[in-house]
Amino acid sequence: MSTSFRTHTCGELRSEHVGERVTLAGWVHRRRDHGHLAFFDLRDRHGITQVVTNADDAPDAHAAAEPARNEWVIQVSGVVRARPDGTTNAELDTGAIEVAVDGFEVLNPSKVPPFYINEEQPGLDESLRLKHRYLDLRRPPMQQRMLMRSKLASAIRRSLEDEGFVEIETPTLIRSTPEGARDFVVPSRLRPGEFYALPQSPQQLKQLLMVAGYDRYFQLAHAYRDEDLRGDRQPEHTQVDIEMSFVTEEDVISTVERVVTRVAKEVVPERPILHEPFPRLSYADAMSRYGSDKPDIRFGMELTEISDAVREVDFRVFSEPIAAGGAVYAITAPGCGDYSRKQLDELIDLAKRHGAKGLVHLAVQADGALHGPAAKFLEGHEAGLLAATGASAGDLVLVVADADRHAAAEALGHVRLEMGDRLGLRQPGVLGYVWVHNFPMFTWDKDGQRWDATHNPFSAPVPEDVDRMESDPGSVRAQQYDLALNGWEAGGGSVRIHQRPLLEKAFALMGHTVDGMRDEFGALLDALEYGAPPHGGIAIGLDRWAALYAEVDNIREVMAFPKTQSGTDLMMDAPSPIAPKQLEELRLRVVEDD
Ligand code: AMO
Ligand code: AMP
Repeated sequence: MSTSFRTHTCGELRSEHVGERVTLAGWVHRRRDHGHLAFFDLRDRHGITQVVTNADDAPDAHAAAEPARNEWVIQVSGVVRARPDGTTNAELDTGAIEVAVDGFEVLNPSKVPPFYINEEQPGLDESLRLKHRYLDLRRPPMQQRMLMRSKLASAIRRSLEDEGFVEIETPTLIRSTPEGARDFVVPSRLRPGEFYALPQSPQQLKQLLMVAGYDRYFQLAHAYRDEDLRGDRQPEHTQVDIEMSFVTEEDVISTVERVVTRVAKEVVPERPILHEPFPRLSYADAMSRYGSDKPDIRFGMELTEISDAVREVDFRVFSEPIAAGGAVYAITAPGCGDYSRKQLDELIDLAKRHGAKGLVHLAVQADGALHGPAAKFLEGHEAGLLAATGASAGDLVLVVADADRHAAAEALGHVRLEMGDRLGLRQPGVLGYVWVHNFPMFTWDKDGQRWDATHNPFSAPVPEDVDRMESDPGSVRAQQYDLALNGWEAGGGSVRIHQRPLLEKAFALMGHTVDGMRDEFGALLDALEYGAPPHGGIAIGLDRWAALYAEVDNIREVMAFPKTQSGTDLMMDAPSPIAPKQLEELRLRVVEDD
């Protein structure tokens, strides 16, 4: 990769180059002075090469190197030579050689950076990193992540192209398309008082592309959602957005699974895929076995419903939820029967943070007796409980009861993940892909007192459930699927409704009026009447995909310029006020808080 400034990169030279005259350019990674010798580790994103100036052999170069410090940009020329015996460095690809410098030029000095670029600094304040992101991104571990992400994106493109997909860009100044979050809006200067919305996803546009006949579409699309941020959520993220025509759920799942598998083998070949083909779980099973619609299947410790085993127990904590139609769920943590008060309290807190009213803990004694505050209520029912949970001496049984069975399972699901972490069961390195499907089509929105789409309002019902759409909406399943990986939701999609009357029916159930529908979804509803083919698709979050491959727990670590948890860009200082003139042009006025 030679340029006018260099003959080689800093990661390129090997023993076979010994004797060659070369020119390198890069950043001073480290400098070591030994009297008349100065050693520089010269770094670029390709690697590090040791270069040496010698006051006796090349006094001018040695003098020119004198001021150069860490992170200065320099250019050196010289001859490659083998490092003397005992000074080779097996950890560096270039560790067998060094460059004896006879030309040294400072291309640009550097101020002392606010943090070390050349070594890990544990506890480094993230806001400092984000403020000087260009320096943070210069650090070798960040560069590796960015390079991996680039490789990932290119493997995805290649793989999709080989499957016959065409890449089509869709605009980011659009009309609002609902994905369940708030829109970011952009005021229009030419139509004062009117606004574009940034897409929460290209959902309607990709469906319109199906109507237009592009039967296999993909795009690495930016999507914008104004929602509360977490480690796996940013206001702006990238989706690998996919839509296909003349397909069933099976077609989409199998195509995407081929792509995902091939990409994994190309980008992270060292990481085994736990199950091939990926297992498929119904939403109901995922919830009752793992307490999550994005289960981490790398370990067992599955939930068991013990409602029957404790039905006769005289313990309000269990009996009331059961009587109310709820459920009692348990997990067994092997060998944790000796947990301390503190360890147990942490688990109780965790369960409560995730919505449980409490957490019953029962330590199984050598004689099969149970130990714990609730044990006395269970006297005489121990055998049934042990049989139902499979627990034995030394184990810890953890139980959550709730009148809402999903709530009970969900809270215990979080305890399960915590136990998986504590016991080291979430095997690092392994890729536990799993499909979750047959989601309920509608979820009851208590606040709005209406049914709402579980995924998005365009998802089609499972054919045999269509008849119940009006009589029993809560029981209708959608042809909707999520791809989960190691406890994260990696992607989600559905087969769409491609006939106008059915879509109108679904919208009406969700409380849309005829006018409201026309207003919000007019283009799509109209398009469905011009020969819309059956179609379906999915979007996979590229940031999450990259984070899971990089084994980091926050997607900020794989995004070049992410926002903070409160949605700000510390480097560019955004959002920011705009000039009065701009406000005037847009006919906007800022209302100050009282
Ligand atoms: P969904 O809303 O499930 O589906 O989004 C698809 C995937 O995008 C990722 N994702 C995010 N990543 C980072 N930050 C966010 N705020 C964020 N929100 C979502 C997740 C998620 O699985 N139009 C549909 C797809 C379809 O039906 O084809 C959609 O957007 O990995
Ligand atoms: P209480 O009588 O509410 O103090 O609860 C007695 C014990 O049962 C405490 O250890 C609580 O943590 C636990 N507990 C209370 N409610 C639940 C519940 N819904 N599921 C599991 N454990 C609970």
